[in-house]
Amino acid sequence: MYKFIVKGGRRLSGEVSISGAKNASLALMPAALLAPGIFHIKNTPDLRDVATMSRLLETLGAKVTLDGKLQTIDTRGVKNFEAPYELVKKMRASIYVLGPLLARYGYAKVSMPGGCAWGPRPVNLHIEGMQKLGAEVTLEAGYIVARAKRLKGTHISFDVSSVGATGNIMMAAVLAEDTTTISNAALEPEIVALGDFLNKMGADIRGLGTPTITIKGVKELNPVDFESLPDRIETGTFLIAGAIAGGNVRAVNCEPDHLSALLLKLEEAGAKVQSGKNWIELEAPEAIRPVDVSTAPYPGFPTDMQAQWIALMALSTGSSVIAETIYFDRFKHVPELVRLGADIEVKENVAVVKGVRTLKGAKVMSTDLRASASLIIAGLVAEGTTEVLRIYHMDRGYERIEEKLRGLGADIERVQSDEF
Ligand code: UD1
Repeated sequence: MYKFIVKGGRRLSGEVSISGAKNASLALMPAALLAPGIFHIKNTPDLRDVATMSRLLETLGAKVTLDGKLQTIDTRGVKNFEAPYELVKKMRASIYVLGPLLARYGYAKVSMPGGCAWGPRPVNLHIEGMQKLGAEVTLEAGYIVARAKRLKGTHISFDVSSVGATGNIMMAAVLAEDTTTISNAALEPEIVALGDFLNKMGADIRGLGTPTITIKGVKELNPVDFESLPDRIETGTFLIAGAIAGGNVRAVNCEPDHLSALLLKLEEAGAKVQSGKNWIELEAPEAIRPVDVSTAPYPGFPTDMQAQWIALMALSTGSSVIAETIYFDRFKHVPELVRLGADIEVKENVAVVKGVRTLKGAKVMSTDLRASASLIIAGLVAEGTTEVLRIYHMDRGYERIEEKLRGLGADIERVQSDEF
């Protein structure tokens, strides 16, 4: 076990290079199951979740290597179609193998993911989607077992916009007979990247980035080389770190268009933001103005930035209201931020944050990936030392975070720890 020791009060400034997007990799990697052969995916981040997905693909018979940022996936040896509980419980995105295995091999057995740190996260839309495509789906001893000779195109309309279900159904429908239409499809850039990847493989998907996606099934797909996206949540996390720690931070190798909602909110909070083709520069506000936020599917304010935003608002000059509309219980970071001196009250899915003048270092506990990020951000400005425990959550989704923060001038160290 490791923990981070953060000494607060250092001004952040300088340049930080953004890694490839975790959530894009987690969708692209299982998509490789759709064609036997060798894939190369550039700009793949070296993260624990990517390692878990690699292990899952290897369990199915693929070979996966990561050389720097270049990932190679060889799917020629795939001969097992079961995603075991041991891996799925570590990472819910493992459900992404359901669609491609079913489409390519006519059979998939995937452990049912459980709840997670911020409440229930159902997979009903994934299952119902496969059923609508003609699969027979049963639940057997905690596993989703899906069978189909060849899937058949259909019309699927989501009541809620789901990133995972849109991706999974797209991967299933690319090899189906006839055409599938998805209404209220997710617009997230990672889903567009998945669609681009599948189209490069030979799929016929239209309407990517719009609420209606049309997928004309094809007989077979081919392995390809592809470059993944920059991580918009990592980018946003560094910008918020810069905004709170009084500095001038330039994120490079990022995609400003994917962060419009956050950039507007940062400007409202008083930061000066400039951007170019693949960079964003932020000058921290003299005083952080309170700004309300309501999370929403893309292009709205991402739920994956809500915890970091609350950390920023904890030091604002007034009161702000943060509404979480995607995951109602996603507030596990709040009691930990309160331990650092923040004044936050949560009622149902809304946090009311009253800005305080200073935070004070303490021991705090990570509960999930983005909660960990918010605690580190708070630690950067808290007086004295903040110890962030259970940082394995952080390693799921941030590549070399302490090195990157140190590069900007932060005083943060990873040390071994027996504390749980
Ligand atoms: C993805 C992201 C995650 C992000 C989330 C929302 C990946 C690997 N993870 O998760 O980082 O926080 O999008 O932007 O890309 N829902 C159902 N039934 C389902 C599926 C989802 O009711 O079968 C609900 C969820 O409870 C939630 C909403 O739909 O309220 C959106 O969830 P979804 O977009 O599916 O999230 P993930 O794909 O799991």
